[in-house]
Amino acid sequence: MKNQLVLVLDFGGQYKELIASRVRQLSVYSEIKAGSTSAEEIKALAPIGLILTGGPKSVYAPDAPHCDPKIFELGIPVLGICYGMQLMSYTLGGKVGPSAGGGEYGRIRTRLTPDCPLFDGVPDKGMTLMSHGDRVTQLPEGFVCKASTARCKIAAGVCEERKLYCVQFHPEVRHTDHGTDILRNFLYKLCGAKGDYNIDDYLEWAVENIREKVGDKKVLLALSGGVDSSVCAALIERAAPGSLTCVFVDHGLMRKNEGDQVEAAFADRQLKLIRVNAGERFLAKLKGVSDPEKKRKIIGAEFVAVFQEQSAKLGKIPYLAQGTIYPDIVESGGGSTATIKSHHNVGGLPKDIGFDGLIEPLRGLFKDEVRALGRKLGLPDTLVERQPFPGPGLAVRVLGEVTEEKLAILREADAIACEEIGKMKNPPSQYFAVLPGVRSVGVAGDERRYDEVIAIRAVETTDFMTAEYSPLSHALLSRISSRISNEVPGAGRIVYDISGKPPATVEWE
Ligand code: XMP
Repeated sequence: MKNQLVLVLDFGGQYKELIASRVRQLSVYSEIKAGSTSAEEIKALAPIGLILTGGPKSVYAPDAPHCDPKIFELGIPVLGICYGMQLMSYTLGGKVGPSAGGGEYGRIRTRLTPDCPLFDGVPDKGMTLMSHGDRVTQLPEGFVCKASTARCKIAAGVCEERKLYCVQFHPEVRHTDHGTDILRNFLYKLCGAKGDYNIDDYLEWAVENIREKVGDKKVLLALSGGVDSSVCAALIERAAPGSLTCVFVDHGLMRKNEGDQVEAAFADRQLKLIRVNAGERFLAKLKGVSDPEKKRKIIGAEFVAVFQEQSAKLGKIPYLAQGTIYPDIVESGGGSTATIKSHHNVGGLPKDIGFDGLIEPLRGLFKDEVRALGRKLGLPDTLVERQPFPGPGLAVRVLGEVTEEKLAILREADAIACEEIGKMKNPPSQYFAVLPGVRSVGVAGDERRYDEVIAIRAVETTDFMTAEYSPLSHALLSRISSRISNEVPGAGRIVYDISGKPPATVEWE
């Protein structure tokens, strides 16, 4: 890419993509490279700055990842974060040791030294996100300590002469006050960034990359009609026109009329779209299963089976494309993080199902970046602004065993909730209905009823990694409640979910 470049050197930290994304949001192009990349290779790429990520190891562990010590002699500004700080200090002759009284985890009150260019314009006291067992006990020669906490006396270090900077806390997460300002200072005050990157450049770069990889070969994509797979399809179509075949597996777990809508949305595009109606197969496999992870795994496996059959029918197609985005990888336990839910598109299509290569052009992007890319690609707003819908579909919104009857009730209730909430001037980020699988007693006319409970969920979020429940008005909730109980046979009681994420997740399963 022609833009200025900041390299994020990866030492196994769970926030590496987040760091790269934050840098890009600050209009500076960034890429992730292995922590072991040699100084020579780095020099050849001519980055304006390097950021060393955190990581789970201790620098003294036999298998701890190290960096080429010569990277500190390139004259390129370096920012070490968490393990990156410890590694920088250790490599340059400082000392690292276990934190006295255990590590620091969570938001910690931190005192910053005001005369440090990294903290320019940042209040000298604030909360930072700490997550470390070890800490730097002695900075290398030439470094000055620039921050501290009660337990971590050296929480930041600077050697201005050599343009080396390090922080024990994580400026890339929202939980650190003014974290973005700290990164901005590093980029603009210390690395000389011009802010010459925007999503057009990413588009150009991704198109080039796909073109180079695919050439005139064929690509197969599992299209769900959601933002991610749609943007992925449009991107491949732009890069290699005529190469793409999309398979839309309708697993019978879609919302009301959704299958037809997806088909219609892509009907006038150049790409070849095959719709497979496989609802009966999925429901048969889900019969009697109520464990959420088992349901997800079954749906993932069945999805692979259907997809494989289609792919075999189409003959040999060398490339498989997927619209995997970064939060899918984190929440599915990618790298060192814990599995929260097995997200469908990551667990769904293994590489070894007969393809020569995998194309995942959105892998490093967050939802807002994917949407921006979709707009640039000329996708309609209705598609780009679409709320996320989980790969396993309504199966994770019908709690417990999934049956055709429960699905039918949920579809109708969901359509009403979406119609009413969708009329808001600024609708929430995501909203839908859930069928918790609990029946409750009611009365209609003089008759006793024993019907399903329907829960309404509406959340505000930007990254879908954390969320708050949306404060819908009582008038709106009353309208939804009244319509669902009057118009949907089998739905007897309506409740509103007021949980945030964490501790709840957006979906109920
Ligand atoms: P959770 O429930 O994990 O959801 O807080 C976060 C966001 O991800 C969506 N979601 C999924 N998306 N495959 C997907 O592509 C999945 O298996 C999946 N599960 C949840 C969810 O709707 C929310 O927007």
